Amino acid sequence: MLYNFKYIILFCGAVFFIGCASALYTPAPEHATATATYDELVEGRRIYVSKCGSCHRLYTPTQYDHHTWKENIDEMQERSEINEQQKELIYKYLTNAPVVSSK
Ligand code: HEC
Repeated sequence: MLYNFKYIILFCGAVFFIGCASALYTPAPEHATATATYDELVEGRRIYVSKCGSCHRLYTPTQYDHHTWKENIDEMQERSEINEQQKELIYKYLTNAPVVSSK
């Protein structure tokens, strides 16, 4: 019994981990859009992870609509000391998330 229980815990842990990883999607070439190239998305994710997670958790891209993201990033610009270009790239990453089925 105890033996099985251990595997259930392991399994739940794995599901949780995968769930978190996909929430902050890793850009793939097919995520590119008319307004964001693949390279921009990759760079946007890199800047987002390195500049925006020091004070609070990294909010997931699908958590806010585009308009709200724009406001939030504008508000956070000074705090995270990012320039206009970095702000734009973060915006592109956060607003071009593929539709996640679990949401
Ligand atoms: C120096 C610390 C700091 C950094 C760096 C920072 N934030 Fe924040 N962030 C905060 C604090 C404090 C709050 C909560 C208080 C507030 O909303 O003013 C917050 C709140 C938020 C919220 C929630 C707003 C809401 O209305 O619920 C979002 C979204 C957010 N930050 C995004 C970002 C993004 C994107 C970046 C990177 C560009 C970033 N943050 C960098 C300190 C920081």
